Amino acid sequence: MNERKSIHGQWSSKLAFILAATGSAVGLGNIWKFPYITGENGGGAFVLVYLLCIALIGIPIMMAEVMLGRRGRRSPINTMALLASEEGKSNGWVALGWMGVVAGFLILSYYSVIAGWAMSYVFRTGSGMFVGATADGVSSIFTDFISDPEKLLAWHTIFMVMTMIVVARGVKNGLEKAVTLLMPLLFGLLLLVVGYAMTTGHFQQGLDFLFTPGPITGDAVLIAMGHAFFTLSLGMGAIMVYGSYLPKSTSITQAAFAVALADTAVALLAGMAIFPIVFANGLEPGAGPGLIFKTLPIAFGHMEGGILIGVSFFLLLVFAAWTSAISLIEPAVAYLVENRGMKRVYASVWIGVATWLVGIGSVLSFNVWADKTWSLPFIFENKNFNFFDTLDYMTANVMLPLGGLFIAIFAGWLMREQSSREEMNTWSWAYKAWRFLVRFVAPLAVIIVFLKAVDAI
Ligand code: PHE
Repeated sequence: MNERKSIHGQWSSKLAFILAATGSAVGLGNIWKFPYITGENGGGAFVLVYLLCIALIGIPIMMAEVMLGRRGRRSPINTMALLASEEGKSNGWVALGWMGVVAGFLILSYYSVIAGWAMSYVFRTGSGMFVGATADGVSSIFTDFISDPEKLLAWHTIFMVMTMIVVARGVKNGLEKAVTLLMPLLFGLLLLVVGYAMTTGHFQQGLDFLFTPGPITGDAVLIAMGHAFFTLSLGMGAIMVYGSYLPKSTSITQAAFAVALADTAVALLAGMAIFPIVFANGLEPGAGPGLIFKTLPIAFGHMEGGILIGVSFFLLLVFAAWTSAISLIEPAVAYLVENRGMKRVYASVWIGVATWLVGIGSVLSFNVWADKTWSLPFIFENKNFNFFDTLDYMTANVMLPLGGLFIAIFAGWLMREQSSREEMNTWSWAYKAWRFLVRFVAPLAVIIVFLKAVDAI
């Protein structure tokens, strides 16, 4: 087969791909979402299920996504169309690409709102308003903030503009270099906060909460699995589209392990930083989406050099969110460029404006529409979901795992063994292990977790 090329260009090296994929994976999911859903779902057992899902479902599906992307060398929609026809399968597989585009769009709409919170906290921390603050003070500052829709809207707008600018310029320009420097810095600052957490006298309690498994519900298992997809950017084509820019010679196996390892390390560190602060200050682990904004400022308000550390921390968090946001709309932009002949700039603006509009719903979920809630069929019968919760739930816990399931089925069952072996181009034992996981373990696990969450088993 002649080697295909992507019309959008290629990564300059294997490291560039790993950095970009890590940039996509490490984001709000690790530092904002992981701690708060762990807190809401009782800790230890939830973390254990999440780790199992990363290892048994996440890594094999990540390898499958990169493999499909590199083989197709197009946006996920067109890659699925091309590969399905090459393998003699139905053109209906483009639906998988479409679902990913929709999921990415919906996720970005609320992701941007939360990234806006982090941006505002750069300035809040910088102003010194948290110096010496009590837990109550920090909590009420947060509550006041999110009850102001205009402020949230302003930050959401700024973040969307930032995202569109980078996407318009093309994902590869400049981003690679920034990630090389900033990711390790974020890691370092997290370590500093963990260091502070050790001084609270509640470090052990935090560790126990994170790592001692207790009972767990079917719904919590679904959330843990959904988060494994979310945090690794899987099931919607982001990793596939990055894979389509990957040079032929790169080892997909090694790249997937590197990305998953870095991503998991950041999430666990975030948990180790936050829960000791929660317990030391008598806060609720299940405080919800505001958890990091109610805890970390306490640390920054009390540690040596806290203002500088806090400002840098939130700045790096914004940066991490930025590199994730870009990958959320890259599949849609690549599609418009390929199929509608649009310039990247116009494609980014169109999609950006639409995402921004939907995001207003999430802005309002925290204030004006806070009591507009409903229940969702099958799951959490006693929980009320607002607009933001619904988007988050439907994307992370339904659309991404469903997308992942179909990716696994396509890569493991429909693609000829020869095609995947050739594209994967890895050690024979690694290929065999991957194929077993992606054919049996990952799809069955996703199906069982789905069935369990709707109480069917
Ligand atoms: N992985 C990102 C995070 O953890 C979010 C994301 C999800 C990005 C899906 C791309 C695709 O923040």
